[in-house]
Amino acid sequence: MDKDLRRLLNPALQQIQPYKVEGGQQADIKLNQNESPFDLPLWMKDAILEEFKHEPWNRYPDILPYRGIDAYAEFVGISSDSVMMSNGSNEMLYTIFLACLAKGSRVVIPEPSFSLYEKLALLLQAEIVAVPMHEDLGFDVPEIIRKAKEQEAGLIVLSTPNNPTSKSLSYEEIRRIVTEVDAIVLVDEAYVEFSRETSALGLVREMPNLIVLRTMSKALALAGMRIGFAITNPRLLSEIAKPKIPFTSSRLAEITLSHVLRNYSLVNDAVRYILDERFRITEAMKKIGWIHAFESDANFIIIRVPDAKKVFSFLSEEGILVRNVSGYTLMENCLRFNIGLKEENDCLLEKLRMMT
Ligand SMILES: Cc1ncc(COP(=O)(O)O)c(C=O)c1O
Repeated sequence: MDKDLRRLLNPALQQIQPYKVEGGQQADIKLNQNESPFDLPLWMKDAILEEFKHEPWNRYPDILPYRGIDAYAEFVGISSDSVMMSNGSNEMLYTIFLACLAKGSRVVIPEPSFSLYEKLALLLQAEIVAVPMHEDLGFDVPEIIRKAKEQEAGLIVLSTPNNPTSKSLSYEEIRRIVTEVDAIVLVDEAYVEFSRETSALGLVREMPNLIVLRTMSKALALAGMRIGFAITNPRLLSEIAKPKIPFTSSRLAEITLSHVLRNYSLVNDAVRYILDERFRITEAMKKIGWIHAFESDANFIIIRVPDAKKVFSFLSEEGILVRNVSGYTLMENCLRFNIGLKEENDCLLEKLRMMT
Protein backbone atom coordinates (compact mmCIF):
# COMPACT_ATOMS: atom_id res chain seq x y z
CA MET A 1 0.00 0.00 0.00
CA ASP A 2 0.93 3.65 -0.57
CA LYS A 3 3.32 4.67 2.21
CA ASP A 4 1.48 7.93 2.88
CA LEU A 5 -1.81 6.20 3.49
CA ARG A 6 -0.20 3.76 5.90
CA ARG A 7 0.82 6.74 8.00
CA LEU A 8 -2.87 7.38 8.64
CA LEU A 9 -3.62 3.90 9.92
CA ASN A 10 -3.08 2.18 13.25
CA PRO A 11 0.73 1.82 13.45
CA ALA A 12 0.24 -1.67 14.87
CA LEU A 13 -0.90 -2.86 11.42
CA GLN A 14 2.77 -2.83 10.37
CA GLN A 15 3.41 -5.66 12.82
CA ILE A 16 0.50 -7.96 12.01
CA GLN A 17 -0.67 -10.03 9.08
CA PRO A 18 -4.15 -11.03 7.93
CA TYR A 19 -5.19 -14.44 9.28
CA LYS A 20 -4.21 -17.19 6.86
CA VAL A 21 -4.68 -20.95 6.77
CA GLU A 22 -1.55 -22.34 5.14
CA GLY A 23 -2.46 -24.87 2.46
CA GLY A 24 -6.02 -23.54 2.26
CA GLN A 25 -9.27 -25.02 3.51
CA GLN A 26 -10.00 -27.63 0.84
CA ALA A 27 -8.65 -31.17 0.78
CA ASP A 28 -9.78 -34.77 0.38
CA ILE A 29 -8.72 -35.35 3.97
CA LYS A 30 -8.81 -32.13 5.95
CA LEU A 31 -7.02 -32.30 9.30
CA ASN A 32 -5.66 -28.76 9.59
CA GLN A 33 -8.20 -26.72 11.58
CA ASN A 34 -8.95 -28.90 14.62
CA GLU A 35 -12.55 -29.33 13.51
CA SER A 36 -14.84 -32.23 14.33
CA PRO A 37 -15.04 -34.84 11.56
CA PHE A 38 -18.74 -35.33 12.39
CA ASP A 39 -21.33 -32.96 10.95
CA LEU A 40 -24.78 -32.74 12.63
CA PRO A 41 -27.16 -35.47 11.46
CA LEU A 42 -29.69 -34.41 8.81
CA TRP A 43 -32.68 -35.02 11.10
CA MET A 44 -31.29 -32.45 13.52
CA LYS A 45 -30.50 -29.95 10.78
CA ASP A 46 -34.09 -30.34 9.52
CA ALA A 47 -35.51 -29.71 13.01
CA ILE A 48 -33.28 -26.64 13.42
CA LEU A 49 -34.26 -25.22 10.03
CA GLU A 50 -37.94 -25.87 10.70
CA GLU A 51 -37.74 -23.84 13.89
CA PHE A 52 -35.64 -21.14 12.21
CA LYS A 53 -38.29 -20.76 9.47
CA HIS A 54 -40.76 -19.39 11.99
CA GLU A 55 -38.42 -16.71 13.33
CA PRO A 56 -38.92 -13.09 12.22
CA TRP A 57 -35.94 -12.61 9.88
CA ASN A 58 -36.71 -8.90 9.54
CA ARG A 59 -36.15 -8.32 13.28
CA TYR A 60 -32.82 -7.94 15.03
CA PRO A 61 -31.91 -10.74 17.37
CA ASP A 62 -31.59 -9.79 21.05
CA ILE A 63 -28.61 -7.63 22.00
CA LEU A 64 -28.01 -10.24 24.64
CA PRO A 65 -28.95 -13.55 23.03
CA TYR A 66 -30.74 -14.76 26.16
CA ARG A 67 -32.03 -18.01 24.62
CA GLY A 68 -28.50 -19.17 23.84
CA ILE A 69 -27.15 -17.77 27.11
CA ASP A 70 -29.87 -19.46 29.20
CA ALA A 71 -29.41 -22.77 27.39
CA TYR A 72 -25.64 -22.78 27.93
CA ALA A 73 -25.87 -21.49 31.53
CA GLU A 74 -28.25 -24.31 32.39
CA PHE A 75 -26.02 -26.81 30.61
CA VAL A 76 -22.91 -25.84 32.60
CA GLY A 77 -24.86 -25.25 35.83
CA ILE A 78 -24.23 -21.55 36.41
CA SER A 79 -26.52 -18.50 36.57
CA SER A 80 -27.28 -16.74 33.27
CA ASP A 81 -25.81 -13.44 34.49
CA SER A 82 -22.40 -15.17 34.51
CA VAL A 83 -22.54 -16.06 30.80
CA MET A 84 -22.02 -14.04 27.61
CA MET A 85 -22.46 -15.44 24.08
CA SER A 86 -20.50 -14.42 20.98
CA ASN A 87 -20.13 -15.12 17.28
CA GLY A 88 -17.37 -17.67 17.80
CA SER A 89 -14.86 -17.42 20.62
CA ASN A 90 -12.56 -15.34 18.39
CA GLU A 91 -15.09 -12.54 18.64
CA MET A 92 -15.15 -12.93 22.43
CA LEU A 93 -11.35 -12.70 22.47
CA TYR A 94 -11.59 -9.32 20.72
CA THR A 95 -14.17 -8.19 23.29
CA ILE A 96 -12.17 -9.34 26.31
CA PHE A 97 -8.87 -7.94 25.02
CA LEU A 98 -10.56 -4.60 24.31
CA ALA A 99 -11.96 -4.58 27.81
CA CYS A 100 -8.67 -5.52 29.50
CA LEU A 101 -5.90 -3.87 27.51
CA ALA A 102 -4.87 -0.40 26.40
CA LYS A 103 -1.68 1.10 25.02
CA GLY A 104 1.23 0.13 27.26
CA SER A 105 -0.63 -2.37 29.45
CA ARG A 106 1.02 -5.74 29.89
CA VAL A 107 -0.31 -9.16 29.01
CA VAL A 108 1.32 -12.48 29.82
CA ILE A 109 1.08 -15.00 26.98
CA PRO A 110 2.77 -18.41 27.25
CA GLU A 111 4.70 -19.14 24.07
CA PRO A 112 3.68 -20.80 21.81
CA SER A 113 -0.06 -20.20 22.12
CA PHE A 114 -3.03 -19.49 19.84
CA SER A 115 -1.77 -16.79 17.46
CA LEU A 116 -4.78 -14.48 17.83
CA TYR A 117 -3.72 -13.51 21.36
CA GLU A 118 -0.51 -11.92 20.14
CA LYS A 119 -2.23 -10.23 17.24
CA LEU A 120 -4.87 -8.63 19.47
CA ALA A 121 -2.28 -7.47 21.99
CA LEU A 122 -0.23 -5.88 19.20
CA LEU A 123 -3.31 -4.19 17.71
CA LEU A 124 -4.08 -2.63 21.08
CA GLN A 125 -0.44 -1.60 21.48
CA ALA A 126 -0.15 -3.58 24.69
CA GLU A 127 3.18 -5.04 25.78
CA ILE A 128 3.47 -8.80 25.44
CA VAL A 129 5.25 -10.63 28.24
CA ALA A 130 6.04 -13.97 26.61
CA VAL A 131 6.70 -16.97 28.85
CA PRO A 132 8.23 -19.87 26.89
CA MET A 133 6.91 -23.39 27.44
CA HIS A 134 9.29 -26.13 28.67
CA GLU A 135 11.15 -28.20 26.05
CA ASP A 136 8.45 -30.91 26.34
CA LEU A 137 5.95 -28.16 25.41
CA GLY A 138 4.38 -28.12 28.91
CA PHE A 139 3.54 -24.88 30.75
CA ASP A 140 6.09 -23.22 33.04
CA VAL A 141 3.73 -22.30 35.87
CA PRO A 142 6.21 -20.68 38.32
CA GLU A 143 7.58 -18.51 35.52
CA ILE A 144 4.07 -17.42 34.43
CA ILE A 145 3.41 -16.28 38.00
CA ARG A 146 6.81 -14.69 38.45
CA LYS A 147 6.67 -12.72 35.19
CA ALA A 148 3.08 -11.60 35.78
CA LYS A 149 4.07 -10.19 39.18
CA GLU A 150 7.36 -8.71 38.08
CA GLN A 151 5.86 -7.01 35.02
CA GLU A 152 2.60 -6.05 36.79
CA ALA A 153 0.61 -7.61 33.99
CA GLY A 154 -3.12 -6.86 33.93
CA LEU A 155 -4.06 -9.90 31.88
CA ILE A 156 -2.84 -13.49 31.56
CA VAL A 157 -4.12 -15.62 28.69
CA LEU A 158 -3.94 -19.38 29.03
CA SER A 159 -5.13 -21.75 26.33
CA THR A 160 -5.58 -25.14 28.01
CA PRO A 161 -5.40 -27.62 26.39
CA ASN A 162 -3.14 -25.33 24.45
CA ASN A 163 -3.27 -24.82 20.70
CA PRO A 164 -0.71 -25.56 19.20
CA THR A 165 1.16 -27.63 21.83
CA SER A 166 -1.70 -29.98 22.93
CA LYS A 167 -0.59 -29.72 26.57
CA SER A 168 -2.75 -28.66 29.53
CA LEU A 169 -2.63 -27.01 32.90
CA SER A 170 -4.16 -28.92 35.80
CA TYR A 171 -7.05 -27.50 37.85
CA GLU A 172 -4.67 -26.93 40.75
CA GLU A 173 -2.16 -25.11 38.54
CA ILE A 174 -4.90 -22.80 37.26
CA ARG A 175 -6.08 -22.19 40.83
CA ARG A 176 -2.52 -21.36 41.85
CA ILE A 177 -2.03 -18.86 39.03
CA VAL A 178 -5.41 -17.18 39.54
CA THR A 179 -4.85 -16.93 43.29
CA GLU A 180 -1.29 -15.65 43.25
CA VAL A 181 -1.46 -12.93 40.60
CA ASP A 182 -3.08 -9.52 40.59
CA ALA A 183 -4.39 -9.86 37.03
CA ILE A 184 -7.42 -10.98 35.07
CA VAL A 185 -6.80 -14.60 34.06
CA LEU A 186 -8.48 -15.68 30.84
CA VAL A 187 -8.61 -19.47 30.52
CA ASP A 188 -9.42 -20.47 26.94
CA GLU A 189 -10.96 -23.94 27.11
CA ALA A 190 -11.54 -24.46 23.38
CA TYR A 191 -10.46 -28.14 23.66
CA VAL A 192 -11.55 -28.94 27.22
CA GLU A 193 -13.96 -31.71 26.25
CA PHE A 194 -10.95 -33.78 25.08
CA SER A 195 -8.86 -33.15 28.18
CA ARG A 196 -7.89 -35.42 31.06
CA GLU A 197 -7.87 -32.35 33.31
CA THR A 198 -10.83 -30.78 35.09
CA SER A 199 -12.31 -27.57 33.67
CA ALA A 200 -11.61 -24.29 35.47
CA LEU A 201 -15.35 -23.55 35.46
CA GLY A 202 -15.60 -24.77 39.04
CA LEU A 203 -13.34 -21.90 40.11
CA VAL A 204 -15.42 -19.10 38.58
CA ARG A 205 -17.64 -18.57 41.63
CA GLU A 206 -14.75 -18.24 44.10
CA MET A 207 -12.21 -16.39 41.90
CA PRO A 208 -13.28 -12.84 40.99
CA ASN A 209 -10.46 -12.41 38.43
CA LEU A 210 -11.10 -15.56 36.36
CA ILE A 211 -12.80 -15.69 32.94
CA VAL A 212 -13.38 -19.02 31.19
CA LEU A 213 -13.76 -19.03 27.41
CA ARG A 214 -15.56 -21.80 25.55
CA THR A 215 -16.16 -22.52 21.86
CA MET A 216 -18.79 -24.68 20.20
CA SER A 217 -16.48 -25.11 17.17
CA LYS A 218 -14.55 -28.17 18.32
CA ALA A 219 -16.25 -30.97 20.33
CA LEU A 220 -19.72 -29.60 19.55
CA ALA A 221 -18.94 -29.65 15.81
CA LEU A 222 -20.37 -26.16 15.14
CA ALA A 223 -17.39 -24.37 13.58
CA GLY A 224 -19.62 -23.22 10.71
CA MET A 225 -22.22 -21.80 13.06
CA ARG A 226 -19.87 -19.46 15.02
CA ILE A 227 -20.71 -19.77 18.72
CA GLY A 228 -18.54 -18.95 21.73
CA PHE A 229 -19.10 -18.16 25.41
CA ALA A 230 -17.38 -16.33 28.23
CA ILE A 231 -18.18 -17.36 31.78
CA THR A 232 -17.22 -15.24 34.77
CA ASN A 233 -18.77 -13.54 37.79
CA PRO A 234 -21.61 -11.07 37.00
CA ARG A 235 -19.64 -7.99 38.09
CA LEU A 236 -16.69 -8.65 35.80
CA LEU A 237 -19.02 -9.83 33.05
CA SER A 238 -20.90 -6.53 33.00
CA GLU A 239 -17.58 -4.71 32.55
CA ILE A 240 -16.17 -6.92 29.79
CA ALA A 241 -19.52 -6.76 27.99
CA LYS A 242 -19.07 -3.02 27.40
CA PRO A 243 -16.96 -3.20 24.19
CA LYS A 244 -19.03 -6.07 22.76
CA ILE A 245 -20.36 -5.62 19.23
CA PRO A 246 -24.16 -5.70 19.54
CA PHE A 247 -26.32 -8.33 17.77
CA THR A 248 -23.46 -10.65 16.77
CA SER A 249 -25.24 -13.90 17.63
CA SER A 250 -27.80 -14.81 14.99
CA ARG A 251 -31.18 -16.38 15.72
CA LEU A 252 -29.96 -19.46 13.81
CA ALA A 253 -26.95 -19.85 16.13
CA GLU A 254 -29.16 -19.72 19.22
CA ILE A 255 -31.60 -22.30 17.88
CA THR A 256 -28.81 -24.61 16.73
CA LEU A 257 -27.12 -24.49 20.11
CA SER A 258 -30.33 -25.45 21.95
CA HIS A 259 -30.82 -28.48 19.70
CA VAL A 260 -27.23 -29.67 20.10
CA LEU A 261 -27.31 -29.29 23.88
CA ARG A 262 -30.60 -31.22 24.03
CA ASN A 263 -28.91 -34.05 22.10
CA TYR A 264 -25.60 -33.95 23.92
CA SER A 265 -25.21 -37.74 23.88
CA LEU A 266 -24.12 -37.31 20.24
CA VAL A 267 -21.31 -35.00 21.37
CA ASN A 268 -20.28 -37.50 24.05
CA ASP A 269 -20.18 -40.29 21.45
CA ALA A 270 -18.06 -38.16 19.11
CA VAL A 271 -15.63 -37.22 21.89
CA ARG A 272 -15.25 -40.90 22.89
CA TYR A 273 -14.54 -41.83 19.26
CA ILE A 274 -11.94 -39.06 18.93
CA LEU A 275 -10.23 -40.03 22.20
CA ASP A 276 -10.07 -43.70 21.15
CA GLU A 277 -8.59 -42.65 17.84
CA ARG A 278 -6.15 -40.25 19.55
CA PHE A 279 -4.80 -43.16 21.57
CA ARG A 280 -4.65 -45.51 18.58
CA ILE A 281 -2.93 -42.99 16.30
CA THR A 282 -0.42 -41.88 18.95
CA GLU A 283 0.60 -45.48 19.58
CA ALA A 284 0.90 -46.16 15.84
CA MET A 285 2.98 -43.02 15.29
CA LYS A 286 5.33 -44.03 18.10
CA LYS A 287 6.17 -47.14 16.07
CA ILE A 288 7.33 -45.05 13.11
CA GLY A 289 10.99 -44.54 13.95
CA TRP A 290 11.53 -41.12 12.42
CA ILE A 291 8.46 -39.56 14.06
CA HIS A 292 8.26 -38.19 17.59
CA ALA A 293 4.62 -38.01 18.67
CA PHE A 294 3.86 -35.77 21.65
CA GLU A 295 1.26 -37.05 24.12
CA SER A 296 -1.85 -34.99 23.39
CA ASP A 297 -4.63 -33.70 25.66
CA ALA A 298 -6.71 -32.28 22.78
CA ASN A 299 -8.37 -33.42 19.55
CA PHE A 300 -5.12 -32.94 17.63
CA ILE A 301 -1.64 -34.44 17.77
CA ILE A 302 1.75 -32.78 17.38
CA ILE A 303 4.52 -34.76 15.72
CA ARG A 304 8.15 -33.83 15.19
CA VAL A 305 9.71 -35.04 11.96
CA PRO A 306 13.15 -34.58 10.36
CA ASP A 307 11.85 -32.16 7.70
CA ALA A 308 8.35 -30.75 8.32
CA LYS A 309 8.18 -28.88 5.01
CA LYS A 310 8.91 -32.04 3.06
CA VAL A 311 6.34 -34.13 4.97
CA PHE A 312 3.72 -31.36 4.71
CA SER A 313 4.20 -31.14 0.92
CA PHE A 314 4.16 -34.90 0.46
CA LEU A 315 0.91 -35.21 2.43
CA SER A 316 -0.75 -32.35 0.54
CA GLU A 317 0.17 -33.96 -2.78
CA GLU A 318 -1.55 -37.08 -1.46
CA GLY A 319 -4.67 -35.03 -0.62
CA ILE A 320 -4.09 -34.79 3.14
CA LEU A 321 -4.01 -31.33 4.67
CA VAL A 322 -2.26 -30.92 8.02
CA ARG A 323 -0.78 -27.78 9.64
CA ASN A 324 2.89 -26.97 9.55
CA VAL A 325 3.46 -25.39 12.97
CA SER A 326 7.26 -25.27 12.64
CA GLY A 327 7.27 -21.48 12.81
CA TYR A 328 6.24 -21.45 16.48
CA THR A 329 8.81 -21.14 19.27
CA LEU A 330 10.11 -24.58 20.37
CA MET A 331 8.20 -26.32 17.58
CA GLU A 332 10.84 -26.63 14.91
CA ASN A 333 9.90 -29.34 12.37
CA CYS A 334 6.55 -29.96 14.02
CA LEU A 335 3.28 -30.75 12.26
CA ARG A 336 -0.20 -30.60 13.76
CA PHE A 337 -3.13 -32.69 12.60
CA ASN A 338 -6.54 -33.14 14.16
CA ILE A 339 -8.12 -36.54 14.65
CA GLY A 340 -10.35 -37.38 11.71
CA LEU A 341 -12.55 -40.34 10.85
CA LYS A 342 -10.94 -43.74 11.37
CA GLU A 343 -10.42 -44.24 7.64
CA GLU A 344 -8.89 -40.77 7.28
CA ASN A 345 -6.51 -41.45 10.16
CA ASP A 346 -5.56 -44.79 8.62
CA CYS A 347 -4.81 -43.08 5.34
CA LEU A 348 -2.58 -40.54 7.10
CA LEU A 349 -0.70 -43.37 8.85
CA GLU A 350 -0.31 -45.30 5.63
CA LYS A 351 1.13 -42.28 3.81
CA LEU A 352 3.55 -41.55 6.63
CA ARG A 353 4.72 -45.19 6.67
CA MET A 354 5.31 -44.90 2.92
CA MET A 355 7.85 -42.14 3.61
CA THR A 356 10.01 -44.37 5.81
C1 LIG B 1 -7.29 -21.95 21.53
C2 LIG B 1 -8.35 -21.47 20.61
N1 LIG B 1 -9.17 -20.49 21.01
C3 LIG B 1 -10.15 -20.02 20.21
C4 LIG B 1 -10.32 -20.51 18.93
C5 LIG B 1 -11.37 -19.90 18.06
O1 LIG B 1 -12.51 -20.66 17.92
P1 LIG B 1 -13.87 -20.09 17.36
O2 LIG B 1 -13.72 -18.66 16.98
O3 LIG B 1 -14.22 -20.97 16.23
O4 LIG B 1 -14.84 -20.24 18.52
C6 LIG B 1 -9.49 -21.52 18.46
C7 LIG B 1 -9.64 -22.04 17.09
O5 LIG B 1 -8.91 -22.81 16.57
C8 LIG B 1 -8.47 -22.02 19.32
O6 LIG B 1 -7.62 -22.97 18.92
